Amino acid sequence: MTPSSPDNPESNKHDIDRVYAEAKENVSPFAFNHQVAQVFDDMISRSVPGYALCHEVLALITNRYAQAGSLLFDLGCSSGTSTKVLADSAPSNCKVIGVDNSQPMIDRCQDTLQDLIAKRRVTLTCQDIGDTDLTGASIIVLNYTLQFLPLAIRDQLMTRIYQSLLPGGIVFIAEKVTNPEPDQQQAINDLHLDFKRQQGYSELEIAQKRSALEAVLIPETEFSHHQRLAQCGFEMPQTLTRALNFIAFIGQKPRTHSTSPANQSGLNNR
Ligand SMILES: C[S@@+](CC[C@H](N)C(=O)[O-])C[C@H]1O[C@@H](n2cnc3c(N)ncnc32)[C@H](O)[C@@H]1O
Repeated sequence: MTPSSPDNPESNKHDIDRVYAEAKENVSPFAFNHQVAQVFDDMISRSVPGYALCHEVLALITNRYAQAGSLLFDLGCSSGTSTKVLADSAPSNCKVIGVDNSQPMIDRCQDTLQDLIAKRRVTLTCQDIGDTDLTGASIIVLNYTLQFLPLAIRDQLMTRIYQSLLPGGIVFIAEKVTNPEPDQQQAINDLHLDFKRQQGYSELEIAQKRSALEAVLIPETEFSHHQRLAQCGFEMPQTLTRALNFIAFIGQKPRTHSTSPANQSGLNNR
């Protein structure tokens, strides 16, 4: 049995990603299933340049902008890496809510964050982001998650995030991005392939995973992301980290927004 076997319940979070190591007759569209959940931490850290840096900066943002007594959401929390950063960096009276629509990922997250969950610092919810009530949040995180949502619903989600945030609230987003200049796109893509090779992935693994992600992960340009935030009303959309074709960026809801924080706080309802 391989460490990443879907039948191996003894697998732990340090399992090595071998999901695409063997040749597959048909490569199915990528899914956050049990097999992926078992190796997720290894998979994402070896596939996404700047993954650790993104979380270091999220800690700084949380430390500075999390509002006392507010809610912090990690949308698409997976195994809980960003969720833990929020919990470790926010005032002690903030509550952190991790949301993911994959039960295997939520199960994995539950294991990873059991101490924080036991202390009621973190709550996990298995549901679609579209169904999540985000009212009363001072920080909403979408780390490498927006890229997996249908393009058609991204504007609507960002509008709802804007409306739900408290005045002065922050949306923190990390994404893979495309470059509108074909030559630059090719060059950066080649470097990303080099990064994966350097991380030990074979040509077969890289090719099969790319095929699996093709219609599932739809990246946009950095400009489109900033423009969407600005159109929603966010102030100063800006990129905070960049590693090859992966960026992390934020937008802030103006502090002078007319809806009162007291009306928006949903903390006592949870
Ligand atoms: C690349 S992972 C996110 C990684 C994680 N944020 C981190 O920092 O390690 C994307 C996650 O989004 C979740 N997801 C995708 N679409 C979703 C949706 N509509 N509602 C809730 N979760 C979703 C997936 O199940 C997956 O766990």
